[in-house]
Amino acid sequence: MTTTRPTFEEFLSWLEDSRRHGQVHFDDMQQCWHVLGHPEATAVLSDAAAFSSDLSALRPRQDDLDLFQRGNFVNMDPPQHRKLRTLVSQAFTPRVVADLEPRIAELTTELLDQVDERFDLIDALAYPLPVIVIAELLGIPASDRSLFRTWADVLLGQDIDPDQALGEASAQALTAVAPVMHEMNAYFLDHIRSRRADPGDDLTSKLVRAEVDGERLADEEIVGFIGLLLIAGHITTTATLGNSVVSFQEHPDAVAEVRDDPGLLPAAIEEVLRMRTPFPRLARIATADTEVGGGHIAAGQVVIPWLTAANRDGRVFAEPSRFDVHRTPNPHLTFGHGIHFCLGAPLARLEARVALRLLLGRYRDVEVAGTEQVEHRNPWTMVAVTRLPLAVRAA
Ligand code: HEM
Repeated sequence: MTTTRPTFEEFLSWLEDSRRHGQVHFDDMQQCWHVLGHPEATAVLSDAAAFSSDLSALRPRQDDLDLFQRGNFVNMDPPQHRKLRTLVSQAFTPRVVADLEPRIAELTTELLDQVDERFDLIDALAYPLPVIVIAELLGIPASDRSLFRTWADVLLGQDIDPDQALGEASAQALTAVAPVMHEMNAYFLDHIRSRRADPGDDLTSKLVRAEVDGERLADEEIVGFIGLLLIAGHITTTATLGNSVVSFQEHPDAVAEVRDDPGLLPAAIEEVLRMRTPFPRLARIATADTEVGGGHIAAGQVVIPWLTAANRDGRVFAEPSRFDVHRTPNPHLTFGHGIHFCLGAPLARLEARVALRLLLGRYRDVEVAGTEQVEHRNPWTMVAVTRLPLAVRAA
């Protein structure tokens, strides 16, 4: 199959065809294990000893990527992962997140005040809102956000061919992203040095002062922290805001229910997260011979837990293709599971809740204007729209 921008529906049917080979099966072409079932993906993500997040063996050495990886704890295993995650968790507490609510509401209102009755949701709100929030938290100038967008577009814009071996695909992608990595590292190093010289109240200044086992973090370690937070901290929430409006357009009855009972909005957002999972898959490497869901995985083999497929596993979700704002519980794996469970989930949920509440409250109708103009990312990499023209009518 050629994969220049396949649709989300094509991606879903590829996954369901794949599921026919078993919830856990080996793919000779990609040389990896696909894990499609919910209990099986949960089992892989729960066992960090048997399934490592350190994928460095899969890619060629590259100085800029190596620098970025030094503090990028999403790709680390215990005990190193725990040390760094604990440090960021201390600066990124539930209190810090909850206190952001008024600022998120203020920004949403300011951004929507600038548009008239036709606008692009991504440019006007879904992109700037989360990026300004995370940039302010990190003390990075939010005015540089078009630069961050360029970086994220390159990092996430790699078209993935499901028929290509993973090692080969990741080497190709690495060559394409190398210049951006270089630019990002230089930018972050500059920012960290200026905070070391002149600390403020932001997260970067806290990381600069923080100690792990009595030692300060090196500037080079903080680079990966900031990069992870900045990129993971906005692009996925941008995706979720866009995916919410796309889902609302597809399910007008559900939106009518949410308008009647705004208390249903959090459950509607969970359903969007389940059905349009921004990161469709994760990756691990087996450290030992292990059995999962009948598959005998050998040490050193690559394992891909497909979050999109797990979130549509009929054994866990009744009528998995139905958008149901009353679905409780909704144990989707969109934020991962286990020790790497998304640190930013409370922030992402808060941003989505505040922004969508204000959007629905402000406008009586929110319609996608011209579906042919909607642009999608490659769903193998990320499930998101990058262009979403809307026509709205004030309430
Ligand atoms: C809807 C929005 C989001 C989605 C779908 C999402 C998804 C994920 C997933 C699936 C993981 C697990 C990765 C793995 O196990 O390999 C993860 C980890 C992480 N996310 Fe998010 N994320 C979102 C928003 C955010 C935000 C807003 C932030 C930061 C402000 C953030 C920061 C992180 C960090 C730091 C990790 C690494 C945690 C660790 O390795 O211990 N994410 N995210």
